[in-house]
Order: sequence, then structure tokens, then C-alpha cells
Amino acid sequence: MSLATETVATTVYEGQKPGTSGLRKKVKVFTQANYTENFVQCILDANGDALKGSTLVVGGDGRFYCKEAAELIIRMCAANGVGKLLVGQNGILSTPAVSSLIRHHKALGGIVLTASHNPGGPENDFGIKFNCENGGPAPDAFTNKIYQLSTAIKEYKIVKGLPVDITKVGTTTHTVNNQPFVVEVIDSVANYVNHMKEIFDFAKLKDYVSGKTSGKPLKMRIDSLNGVTGSYVREIFLNCLGASEQCVVHTTPLPDFGGLHPDPNLTYAKDLVDAVANGDYDIGAAFDGDGDRNMIIGHKAFFVTPSDSLAVIAHYLECIPYFQKNGIQGFARSMPTASAVDLVGKKLGKEVFEVPTGWKYFGNLMDAGRLCLCGEESFGTGSNHIREKDGIWAVLAWLSIMQHTGKGIEDILKNHWSVYGRNYFTRYDYEECELDPCNEMMATMEKTITDPSFVGKEFSSGGKSYKVKVADNFAYTDPVDKSVATKQGLRIVFEDGSRIVMRLSGTGSSGATVRLYIDSYEKDNVLGQASVMLKPLIDIALEISQLPKFTGRNAPTVIT
Ligand code: G6P
Ligand code: ZN
Repeated sequence: MSLATETVATTVYEGQKPGTSGLRKKVKVFTQANYTENFVQCILDANGDALKGSTLVVGGDGRFYCKEAAELIIRMCAANGVGKLLVGQNGILSTPAVSSLIRHHKALGGIVLTASHNPGGPENDFGIKFNCENGGPAPDAFTNKIYQLSTAIKEYKIVKGLPVDITKVGTTTHTVNNQPFVVEVIDSVANYVNHMKEIFDFAKLKDYVSGKTSGKPLKMRIDSLNGVTGSYVREIFLNCLGASEQCVVHTTPLPDFGGLHPDPNLTYAKDLVDAVANGDYDIGAAFDGDGDRNMIIGHKAFFVTPSDSLAVIAHYLECIPYFQKNGIQGFARSMPTASAVDLVGKKLGKEVFEVPTGWKYFGNLMDAGRLCLCGEESFGTGSNHIREKDGIWAVLAWLSIMQHTGKGIEDILKNHWSVYGRNYFTRYDYEECELDPCNEMMATMEKTITDPSFVGKEFSSGGKSYKVKVADNFAYTDPVDKSVATKQGLRIVFEDGSRIVMRLSGTGSSGATVRLYIDSYEKDNVLGQASVMLKPLIDIALEISQLPKFTGRNAPTVIT
């Protein structure tokens, strides 16, 4: 039986503008009549003629509304002439797994159903983003096109009667408008696990993790925070690397993440931090809802800042087979990320790039063969094996380094600082502020810091003085396609290299979140406490931005 497309009339919803990483809204917004349909139609239309007969990947982090959205997308892809869909079983695929699948199958792209690290459940967040054929998040030009289309949409296409069952692995070929339409429901983890086996030396890691040679199994606590990584973690760490069941926790992906906030940082992964602080572990790690973020802590919860994690991995990259085989190209970090990796790049004679916040800005450099390792302060670390950051990859990289050096995490960091010096770093988040005063604060601060008289000004606090060297609203010209991204965050760089950065989050679903980043470099004084070392600069940042006045907040909601 041949099924046929139905065209359904719809009206525009305002605000379907993808942010840093796709469209994120409350579930209740997505479930309004035709809301998801509109946005999906615009994603499909933004692909133009390339869509006809194409292959797309569909999957998400298993949060509330994921399965329904996946089924809807299948019916809409059928109606819009897509040739084949690769769908994760039950709609489940981690974000890194989607990226890997797109590349592996040379698909046109993928639709990722996630609000990443935002809480899930009927009262919380959902999200949809599109990744292009390189496996990476769609660039600005593409998401702008989606948004433009969303402001004029009049109809969407669907095959309402298409039978859909994504609970079982297998391939079904339908006939839609007299054309074949193939839905292949795939095992959510197999392709990704094989990919990791190609990158890392699993045999060596297994000996190390299981304690086969040393007689001492590695004491790990890997926390999936009830996000999508649970199934991947069980396969990789338990089945492939021989870790014991106690090494992994919260490995059942739940639609509301069991009420946990699946963001791997010191605040939201406090349970992990406390367990590692009070227990006897060599390594603790956590991931976010969709598995692209990671946090690494050592014995007694010794915290590795994401900026340092990136620098350490850069330093030891050669111990990973993938890089032995493919070579080491340049490194990159987002602008607010502390510049520890720059020092490693300098020493190794590699290019180092500073891009705006958002993983999509790394893609072109990777595609051009100029970048192999990058990271962001927002707990993202990854390489050119895919075009997303990759939480599990980061833990495997750290295990490889621990195995290679025979050292614990704290010693690895202290050794790193003794060679390169240390970038003390902290981020203050002020979540769910009112939008208007925050916009006003940013506008006022931009005016203050871009006034020519600002350069050369000296600020003092707590016995320390800082003289302004450069101050601007960060703009970036992509070295490959020359596209320009402006207004990417206010930054003040001082003569000694210390920095204050302030920007509004692009991933929230309501209100405004102010992020204040503080970065201060010390060549010799490397064993201080970050909160103490950074206090003077924080006070200066609060003074210049007048943040307490504009937001009414005297303390941040989250400190990382
Ligand atoms: C997502 C993106 C990251 C980005 C982060 C920043 O996780 O994938 O690349 O660094 O959001 O989010 P923000 O809320 O600071 O805009
Ligand atoms: Zn994420």
C-alpha cells in the first residue's frame, strides 16, 4: 500500500530562534498544537533540494517527549521526501553518537532531541537541534535560515497513517508517494562503542581498569546522572573494560533524569563530588543529559577545571592511538575558556584558535584539517573524531593518560602546572534573572569598556592591581569561510593576561542567565586556592559591571 503526504495548514509561532545549541523551550511550549511540527518542517525545508532521497539520523537523550517527537519526525520525514532514517532504538542516541553516525553513514544530517544539561520532565525542558553532514551543529547561516522560515510558515507535511514502532531494532521499508521510505531502528550504542575502540587502546585500558597487571582495580565512580550515557557507560566500562558494577551509578536513562539536574559541575553533580570526597576513588566523572559534557575529579574530589583538562589532554595526546595514527593538528578553545591550552600549543608548535562559545565554531577548522582537539569551560572536551564534544571520550582520554603516566589525577595536574604555570579559573552563573535589566547591564558595560579611555585604566582590590590592556565585545572571523560572528561576549584583558569575561547564556529556556568568567595566570604560585586567588578580580568585575545593581543578586546560583 502506498501512503501519501498530507499537507496541514499552520500559523507562525514567534521565537523559534535556535540558540547556542538548537531550539530549547519548556516541554509545554513544544507540545502546543503544531509547535514542534512547525519547527521540524523548517529544519527539513532549510535543507532545500538536498533533502530528497537523503539519509538522516534521529535520536535524543531520552528525556520526556523524546519518543513522541521522534515518531512525529519520522512521519514528517516520510512526507518530505527523505529516503532513509536511522533512528536510535526507543529514540535514544547520545549527541556524540548522533555525530558519529552521521559521519559513519555519510548522512545529510541528524535531528537531535535534547535540551542537553537542562532538567527534563513534563514541567521542564525539551530541545531540537539540527546537525549537518559533517556531524556538527548547524552553523549560524543554517540556523538563521530555519528561523527565517519559521517566521513565514503556512503549512507542514506529514504522513499521519505511517505505522511507526521504534521499540525494536530492525529495518522497515514503506512506500510513500510511490517512493521507498526506509526506517532503520538501530542499536543505540553499538556504532559509538566501535568508534571508541578504534580511537583508544581498549586492551591496555582493560588491564589498567580491571587491575589485571597491577592486581589493583581502578577505583572509579562514573555518574550518568540518569542521562543518556547510562547504556554507553555500562557497555564500555563494565563489559569492555572490566570495571565492576560499583564503579557506575545512575545508569538508567530516565525521562525526568530522576529529578536530577543532569549538568556535570560542582553544584549539580554534588552527589558525585561528596561520594568521591568521602570515599576512596582514583577518578570520578559525570556527564550531562545528552552525553557531550563531562566533569573529571580525582582522589578526594580534586577538581580538574575543563580548561586544565583540555591542556593536559593536549600535552599527552600522543599516548592515544588515534592521534598516533592521524597526527596532531592545532588546538582550540572558546573565548571564555582559560588559555592553559595555548601554552601547550605554543610549546608543541601548534596553531591555537580562540572561537566564540558554541561547539559549532570548531567544525570548519576540523574539516579544514587545522584542528584536532578542542574544549570549552562549559565542561566540553572533544576531538576531530566527531563534530560534537564527547563526555565518554574525555574520560577514556583521562584513563589513557593515567595509564600512560602511572600517576593519579592530582599529580598529573600539579606536574602540568609546574611546567606551564597555572590559569586559575572560575565561572559565576546568575540563573533565571530578568531579561531586560540584564540586557541593560550588558549594554551599559559594553559602553563603559569600549570607551577609548578605558584602556590603561587601573583597578585595585585585595592588594592586587590590574591595568586594562584590551576591552571589547568579542567578534570572530572564521579562518576558513570568513563568516563573522559579532557580540560574542564582553571581555576585559589586563596587562598580565588576566581576564574578565561576561556574557548572557544562549542555552536557557526562559529569562536570562548571566555568566561571569574570571581567568588569572600565575607562573610560579600554582598551588593556591582558586576562590582566594580570584577574589580580587571577581570584586573588580562586579564593580565594573554593576551586576548586583542590575540583577538584584548578591551571590551567584552556581559557581564552577
Ligand atoms: C552548549 C554548547 C556548548 C556551549 C554551551 C554554552 O553546551 O554545545 O558549545 O559552550 O552550550 O552555553 P551557554 O549557556 O553559556 O550559552
Ligand atoms: Zn549536552
